[in-house]
Amino acid sequence: MSWKSDLEKWYSVPVYKPGISPEESKKIVGDKNFLNLQSNENLFIPSELIKKLAENALLNIDLRLYPKEITTALTEKLAKINNLEKENVILGHGADQMIESVLNIFRNKKKVFLHKPTYSYYKIAAMSYGLKVITDEYVNETSLNFESINKSSPDLVFICNPNNPTGHVIPKGEIEELLKNKDIVVVLDETYAEISGVTSNQLLNDYENLIILRTFSKAYGLAGLRIGYALASGILSDVLKRVQSPFPVSSFSAYVALLALDRIEVFKKYWNEALKVREWFEKQLDEGVIRSKSSSYFLTLSFKVSSEAAFTELLSHGYITRVIEPFGRFLNPLRMNLAPKDLIEDLPGLINQINKN
Ligand SMILES: Cc1ncc(COP(=O)(O)O)c(C=O)c1O
Repeated sequence: MSWKSDLEKWYSVPVYKPGISPEESKKIVGDKNFLNLQSNENLFIPSELIKKLAENALLNIDLRLYPKEITTALTEKLAKINNLEKENVILGHGADQMIESVLNIFRNKKKVFLHKPTYSYYKIAAMSYGLKVITDEYVNETSLNFESINKSSPDLVFICNPNNPTGHVIPKGEIEELLKNKDIVVVLDETYAEISGVTSNQLLNDYENLIILRTFSKAYGLAGLRIGYALASGILSDVLKRVQSPFPVSSFSAYVALLALDRIEVFKKYWNEALKVREWFEKQLDEGVIRSKSSSYFLTLSFKVSSEAAFTELLSHGYITRVIEPFGRFLNPLRMNLAPKDLIEDLPGLINQINKN
């Protein structure tokens, strides 16, 4: 077989769609001051704060050198914050890269179970690493589907907590129940955990079949830095380290991340602010607007008109949101992250209006 025809198998792997750009938005509704609410970026963290941390980092690191001391310091700090040992922390360039590393160590012939709806990259990455993907809906929108999991006997179960795109939290008891099945590796994606104040990191002391994924992209508003990490114990942590490239995280990213952790109290204020804005936002919505039970700064709404129609109407007012696949009673869903109140003051009213038509 020629190398070209060999590569054709990759066309069966879906491509991750990062959403619509302001340029494309312009073509649809004309030139506007667009607010991007489609990527769950954390707009509550002021960009001036991030710039200051970045300037400080540039003054203090020598980019001629490979990152070693800085990444070791970050690993130790993350272990301390999470009440774990440094052996339990594996740094990577974003939670996405840690998702890939997990799938890499279980590549080919393994089965992964995903709930619907959830973060779309799990399926794409699982297919690239040759895992079989099984999906089913949550029970009552928020609970793990044990019946379906047991029936399909997967090797891996990904749980996104809080879940993207709904923002709902999966009860800790359910996660623990799943972990009791020692034949399953549970990958708990806690990308949004800090903001909602939910974490299961202490379960790592009791369960060696658990991997937790974290990132600086959301709580710390550092999506552009591409820095995240996994928490795991025993053989999982050993093997995850083996498949990492020698220097997966830049010294610049690691230094900024360290500075951010030193200012965790400042960041907490913005997390609280984000949750308050979501409460305000939900209160402004008419009762008839179907919405997910979010514990985070983003949520999913379902409209009486098609998702595309609702999307275009919001776009014509400058709000870029995300059309997602229908699920359960969410027949025409859109996901959107929120932003400081003064930037989205008229958004709930617009949503109510679209839903009346
Ligand atoms: C659930 C979830 N996991 C992982 C990621 C990717 O995180 P990172 O920017 O750290 O790669 C995202 C980004 O939106 C996400 O929503």
